[in-house]
Amino acid sequence: MSIHSMAASHAAGKGSEPDSVFAVVSRVREAQKQPDADQIVDGSIGAIFDEKGQFSILPVVNELYRQLTPDDLMNYATITGSPEFLQAAIDYTFQGFQPAGTIAKAVGTPGGTGAIRSMIYNYLNNGETVLIPDWYWAPYKTIAEENQRRAETYTMFDEDLKFSTTDLKAKVKALLQKQDNVLVLFNTPGHNPTGYSMSLEDWSDLIPFFKACALETGKHIVIGLDMAYVDYCGDPIEARRFLGMFKDLPENLFVAIAFSMSKSFLVYGMRSGALIGFSTSAEIMNDFSNIHSFSGRGTWSNGSRGAQQLLAKIVRDPALTARANKERQALAQLVIDRANIFVREAAEAGLRILPYFGGFFITIPAKDPKALAKKLEEEKVFLVPMAKGIRLAVCAVPKSKMPGLAGRIKKAMDAIEG
Ligand SMILES: Cc1ncc(COP(=O)(O)O)c(C=O)c1O
Repeated sequence: MSIHSMAASHAAGKGSEPDSVFAVVSRVREAQKQPDADQIVDGSIGAIFDEKGQFSILPVVNELYRQLTPDDLMNYATITGSPEFLQAAIDYTFQGFQPAGTIAKAVGTPGGTGAIRSMIYNYLNNGETVLIPDWYWAPYKTIAEENQRRAETYTMFDEDLKFSTTDLKAKVKALLQKQDNVLVLFNTPGHNPTGYSMSLEDWSDLIPFFKACALETGKHIVIGLDMAYVDYCGDPIEARRFLGMFKDLPENLFVAIAFSMSKSFLVYGMRSGALIGFSTSAEIMNDFSNIHSFSGRGTWSNGSRGAQQLLAKIVRDPALTARANKERQALAQLVIDRANIFVREAAEAGLRILPYFGGFFITIPAKDPKALAKKLEEEKVFLVPMAKGIRLAVCAVPKSKMPGLAGRIKKAMDAIEG
């Protein structure tokens, strides 16, 4: 046979590299069949597992979902999402920090992933580039490439591992020279894979910068906020405070937020989220609803009705909201407790890690991440190798397995790097 693929030229070779996370997950599954499976430290997957290694849920979500009527569960959602769901997504996202004088709208999507797809597709032309940090969630690049766009990275931390906007600003300026549209994607707070949360100071530096760029060039600039981990970064209200800073924006500077139910309600598999935008212009917001609804119709049609009904029910009922918050907060504290053990021991062991403030992951920079991950796997420690480091999913590793882990990683690193 001389034909090896029936794909059109733009699709040729796609998907030949295995997903780095799921490759580790499948090796963990193999290791779990061995007699010493209790020795495994599984820091690969981005879902919360409790201290007994059980998949964690919010019990209130489980109860409510099972009480939904067949119609609520199985009928179609509308293309945009039900009005109750859209309002709930907006209220839940801002929690009091919607910038004054703005109109907010939402369009339902399958998870935050769908919202990010809608941003990348609709705010960039074919062949244009989305700007992301050099430590990034791999699907950003996949989504860009799948939609015939590109992803370019900026250096997120300086040599002292402090967040830096120097390269980010330079790359924005350079893109403004080349493109009509600039989309910059931020995953904050609780960035995956590092756990970095941008501070109010970071935003007081960046918002005026973006405003000036918009006013000077007249080009379309979109700040994309991926807030998947916002509820796992200390006080969830404080974690949203930065949203109130996006006020008095020029017309050509827009903020789009990817809201995800996956982590906030621990319903990863239900595939529910929304793209949320806000502006002082009713016209811009009508256009926002139109373009993203059309885009949804042309890709996944609509979201998951059951998950949408669930969010609407919880957010409009203060008692249910309080229960969900309490249950989530207990799990968020568990993740933070695990992270605290690791961060403290890393400092003691002299293991350099990227600044962690919350979220599901901690990252350890490494010269040869693949070799380090392989060496650790020999000791049954499963972490995800990335381009410049390895990622530890603190959401998945019980506290009992945290002590000594930083030291083991440091030892393995010293053996490799000398
Ligand atoms: C950085 C980041 N953004 C967005 C998501 C969105 O997930 P979902 O599509 O399940 O809402 C995830 C999930 O792992 C993530 O890690």
